[in-house]
Amino acid sequence: MTDTLIAPAPSTSTGARRLATRMERGARFLGSDVAIMAGAMSWVSERNLVSAMSNAGGFGVIACGAMTPALLDAEIAATKAMTDRAFGVNLITMHPDLTALIQVCASHRVGHVVLAGGLPPKGALEAIKASGAKVICFAPTLALAKKLVRSGVDALVIEGMEAGGHIGPVSTSVLAQEMLPELAQVVPVFVAGGIGRGEAIAGYLDMGAAGVQLGTRFVCATESIAHPNFKRAFIRASARDAVASVQIDPRLPVIPVRALKNAGGELFTARQREVAQSLDEGTVAMAEAQLQIEHYWAGALRRAVIDGDVEHGSVMAGQSVGMVTKEEPIAAIIASLMDEAAQAFDKRAA
Ligand SMILES: Cc1cc2nc3c(=O)[nH]c(=O)nc-3n(C[C@H](O)[C@H](O)[C@H](O)COP(=O)(O)O)c2cc1C
Repeated sequence: MTDTLIAPAPSTSTGARRLATRMERGARFLGSDVAIMAGAMSWVSERNLVSAMSNAGGFGVIACGAMTPALLDAEIAATKAMTDRAFGVNLITMHPDLTALIQVCASHRVGHVVLAGGLPPKGALEAIKASGAKVICFAPTLALAKKLVRSGVDALVIEGMEAGGHIGPVSTSVLAQEMLPELAQVVPVFVAGGIGRGEAIAGYLDMGAAGVQLGTRFVCATESIAHPNFKRAFIRASARDAVASVQIDPRLPVIPVRALKNAGGELFTARQREVAQSLDEGTVAMAEAQLQIEHYWAGALRRAVIDGDVEHGSVMAGQSVGMVTKEEPIAAIIASLMDEAAQAFDKRAA
């Protein structure tokens, strides 16, 4: 395993040394060589991509998504068989079996649990921390970030609307300016959304980030099991093809999803109309209506990632998709990002 490991760029230049220094805290927190996380991506972030990311010196995260506890158990075991490096598990807070999933992570002594999809329900943080794992949470606003820190989370991810998948309304650059000055000294903060090159990584590290999280940039890694059609769609697309879904009914506040424009986007609009009509007719309650929307996304993403139906499925992608130009090993992607970041720091030193 260690033969594929990429150590942080050798400290030959001032830029590389600065980069290593800026990443030290984040890398120490994660137990990786470089403070770059591959954000969990449902159906994509499974044993192959996650182990490859961690073996390459970064930090892979398994996307649990809608997995049952038994499936997650098998996925963690398989990942451990492929890497002896640290990796994390991403759990969705509204999963009905959250407690059982936390227990599965604990039984494998997973070192880091990432909670996504809303504030953690009562007891979840305590249960994770009792297992000895560190908790990383997504922080949508400064006020919620402070609340999360008070309740004991160990690190935060702030993710802007440039990202692929479910998104909030604010851009990465604004979130970083609002949050980093207030939080970066308190807990490690990882910046996500729209990062395609190392220069941006250098910028956020300079602003106080402990590290970064990228998703879109890793989808076309050689080790990613995403269908060849899915990867081809990424390689062809430009930034403006990655659009946010539209909400058609104010009573049905669906979380927007950023994905490549296709017929699937229209299917989603039609699905919302159907669900809104069921709400009108009183045949479905609000919570159930929202759950139906979430199930729609999970199914549509699987259709595109696994079956390769990139026309009718959901090709979730961030705006950095325009910077994905070829399929290449994950170690090569990390090496490029690190080189670009080191060169950016070199220029600052000049
Ligand atoms: C195809 C795809 C699926 C994703 N699925 C999830 C998910 O299941 N859970 C999650 O927390 N984030 C998910 N994300 C977000 C990523 O973990 C990551 O935070 C995001 O991709 C970072 O922004 P970027 O795409 O601009 O690099 C997904 C992103 C993509 C592109």
